Amino acid sequence: MKLAVAIDGPAGAGKSTIAKILGKKFDLMYINTGAMYRAVTFVAMKNNIAPTDIETLCSEVKKMEMHFENDELYLNGENINDRLTLPDISKNVSEYAAIKEVRTLLVDLQRNMAQKYDSIMDGRDIGTVVLKDAKYKFFLTATPEERADRRYKEFKEKHLDVKYEDILEDIKKRDYYDTHREVDPLRKADDAVQIDTTGLDIDGVVNKISKYIVK
Ligand code: DC
Repeated sequence: MKLAVAIDGPAGAGKSTIAKILGKKFDLMYINTGAMYRAVTFVAMKNNIAPTDIETLCSEVKKMEMHFENDELYLNGENINDRLTLPDISKNVSEYAAIKEVRTLLVDLQRNMAQKYDSIMDGRDIGTVVLKDAKYKFFLTATPEERADRRYKEFKEKHLDVKYEDILEDIKKRDYYDTHREVDPLRKADDAVQIDTTGLDIDGVVNKISKYIVK
């Protein structure tokens, strides 16, 4: 059986940064499930498929070949990572991620990946649904203000013109959607270790988590 580490938590809690570092440290493949939901949103928006048109959407999703290389998502052989974090995708992704049929298709793909590789997977439902039997489960949190501040700095580094208030509003909206949706809402698995990252730097969080993992 392959080793699996599950990392869940709300948007901007630092999951992907932390998971990438831990992936390198423990030689685990990093599987960014948020990127997969974002890729679905990217394809839907490119083809003008509304979230209500589930049949068309699912037939497009079935055509999507997704895999990760060096922490980045490839869609049908093309690295589309740069496009996935654009504000337009972030605004719409919660709606597409709330569709049960889409989730079923992506959860299958995610489980297949975890069967093939020792992995560290981050998302919203990894410990509760995708990898219920993961050996290690962590739930990362931080205040909405701190998470918005982190995202704001990331965008600024990429020279994108964004307002802090807009990001904070987007994060609060996504928190609400992600925790209130009917299918697989964001919640901590009973057996997950909760880590509040407010006021902690990256090394601090990595060190805390590393103490649990034995490979
Ligand atoms: O982690 P992220 O911000 O890239 O996630 C994008 C969206 O996808 C977010 O609204 C929550 C959703 N998501 C999900 O529903 N389930 C996952 N396993 C991962 C992400």
